[in-house]
Amino acid sequence: MERLKNKVAVITGGANGIGKATALKFIKEGAQVAIWDITKEKGEEAAKELGSDTKFYQVDTTSFEQVEKAAQQTYQDFGKIDILINNAGITQDATLAKMTIEQWQKVLDVNLNGVFFCTKAISPFMVEQACGRIVNASSVVGVYGNFGQTNYVATKAGVIGMTKTWAKELGRKGITVNAIAPGFIATEMVKSIPEKVINMLEGKTPLGRLGQPEEIANAYAFLASDEASFISGTTLNVDGAVTI
Ligand code: NAI
Repeated sequence: MERLKNKVAVITGGANGIGKATALKFIKEGAQVAIWDITKEKGEEAAKELGSDTKFYQVDTTSFEQVEKAAQQTYQDFGKIDILINNAGITQDATLAKMTIEQWQKVLDVNLNGVFFCTKAISPFMVEQACGRIVNASSVVGVYGNFGQTNYVATKAGVIGMTKTWAKELGRKGITVNAIAPGFIATEMVKSIPEKVINMLEGKTPLGRLGQPEEIANAYAFLASDEASFISGTTLNVDGAVTI
């Protein structure tokens, strides 16, 4: 089944982890994929692995200038942009007492400004064609909070707010805007968490394990597909029920 046939998708943070698994899933579903990532080597490697329907663009999503340039270039290369997956994100954890202003600012720059910049640059192409799908990466911690993640939690809660706002602003233009809230997924991001904390998280998860990047990719694909045509403004938990 090719649920994304003839669609052009921009996936930020597509060089690694969940973003790379999403690029692979989208290709399998018939899409053409523009991987936008700050990491050149891994991005080029991913695009090569995924084949001729994938193209890599080196973009730092914290720079509106780079984002605008990449949006124009992607539009020129593919002729349209149907789907935006705002997936790039980082953590820089510390307790409130120990968090530096630089840590606070850096995480806001990538996880909040980056999402705003990409959506601001790409949504006009969707408005012009009167259809589009935007899916943003939030997190379960954006809803429930998390020890040592003031900066990250602020951004992931902010993403839920932006998702609802854009769903209201862009709905009549034929564009749906949703977010996903993953639980703890086995990627580089989670590798920095101590093993004992991972064991504790697995214990707290009714499904008894971490999620896999492919399981988040499946949720992105669903929300980007025509099957989700009347879903907008929602945040879908993909978390093994860790939050109930
Ligand atoms: P990852 O660290 O494996 O990959 C993130 C990608 O974003 C990397 O390829 C990195 O180069 C890219 N990136 C970072 N800064 C960038 C920038 N300024 N411009 C362009 N690209 C940039 O992360 P992972 O785990 O795949 O996470 C993907 C998304 O899912 C993130 O938004 C994350 O916050 C979210 N998420 C992840 C969870 C997890 O347990 N792994 C849980 C909940 C949410």
